[in-house]
Formats: sequence, structure tokens, C-alpha cells
Amino acid sequence: MARLRVGVLISGRGSNLQALIAACSAEAYPAEIALVISSRAEAPGLGFAAAAGIPVTIIPHRDRRAFAAEAQPQLCKRRVALVCLAGFMRILDASFVEAWRNRMVNIHPSLLPAFRGLHAQRQALAAGVRFAGCTVHFVRPELDCGPIIAQAVVPVHPDDDEARLSERILEAEHRLYPLAVRLIAEGRVRAVAGVVAERVEIINARTPDISALNPQDCPGDPLASKPG
Ligand code: GRF
Repeated sequence: MARLRVGVLISGRGSNLQALIAACSAEAYPAEIALVISSRAEAPGLGFAAAAGIPVTIIPHRDRRAFAAEAQPQLCKRRVALVCLAGFMRILDASFVEAWRNRMVNIHPSLLPAFRGLHAQRQALAAGVRFAGCTVHFVRPELDCGPIIAQAVVPVHPDDDEARLSERILEAEHRLYPLAVRLIAEGRVRAVAGVVAERVEIINARTPDISALNPQDCPGDPLASKPG
């Protein structure tokens, strides 16, 4: 079967791009990266694309319209069917987003709809949440909005700082993004227009049988788990 042709948009480090490249290197993976577009010529992530022999285009993000006008023909030329935003740090032109409706996804380091925007991990720590995570969602013109495809959850530790929490979430991102792209490539992700909001249905997927408490009792505590 033909593999889904993916275009990845980056601005910086590119570790999610690296995770997608690694996933695509497996023969059985149903997607391939046809193009990487970077908004910055000096983005470290470009090294991963070069090492994997993936075509790269640099489009400095002067303004939203100009970026879209340059990106669109490049994506068409490479017959891209799905756009993945991976640390792409610019707001996209609304008509570009609409042109890729349900064919453009983003990964965000929070359990959306909580903590949209910049420094999501810092926001999570400031709010004192006990669990954090990441979300892959279809992109809509409003920042970090759109139907949720997949999420991963990680615990927040009492001694976490922004760097430690970000690192834990990033490890989850590197598993979640390849999973979400695979589900899309397999045709198992269906956007459903609901009465209240749009939702996504995943065809033939399992929901993990977990529920976790944070904090948990300490095993040595004599009062642990005693009611009252
Ligand atoms: C990730 O945390 C991603 O969730 C967010 O930006 C960061 C990009 O990291 N959108 P990288 O460039 O993929 O390493």
C-alpha cells in the first residue's frame, strides 16, 4: 500500500521530527516524510532531515500570508497529504489552516484544552496539577485548538522544575506523535461534527485500562489507606 506522504514544519530543535523520521524508517510504518519546511535556516532539526536525505525548504516567516504563499506550492509539489507541525513556532494564516482542515496536525506539551500557548509545562507547574502530558490534535485557526486525536499522560513529581517536567513530557511526545500519524495513515481517525464541538473517533483502538492517583500512599506509612 502507498505510504501517506507527510510534510513536517519545524522551527527549532526538531526532536519530534527525529521521532517521526525514526518511525518512518521501519518498513511496515504506513507514512513517509516527503518534505521538511523550516521557518528558520539555523534550526538544529534540519540536521535530522539532512541525515535522512529528506528534501528541505527554508521559508523565513516574514508574515503569515507570505509564508502560506510559499509553503503551499512546495507541499503540493511533493504531493504531501498530511502536514505535521512539530515545534513550529509561528501562527499560520487562517486560510492556509482551512485549506489543510483535518489534514494538518500539531503536537502540544499539555493535556489540552488546558495550558494553551507558550510555556505549557511552566503553566502546568504553576497551576499545581498532579498529571501533565501532551496532545496531538487537528489544527484550527485558533492557537492550540482543534479536535483531539491522542493524548499521553505523565505524573508531575513534587521536585519537578520546568526542565525536568518538559523532558518527561517530551519522551511521551516522541511515542505519541508517531502513533497518531500511524492511525491517520491507516485511515483510523475520523473527525465527527458534534452538537457542542468537533470530536475525533479512532476506529478499532483500545483504551488503556488504567487509573492512577498522584500522590499515592507510602507503603511504610501505618496510616496508609486507612479510611478516616
Ligand atoms: C515540543 O514540546 C512540542 O510539543 C511543542 O514544541 C516542542 C518542539 O520540540 N509544540 P522539538 O522541536 O520537536 O524538539
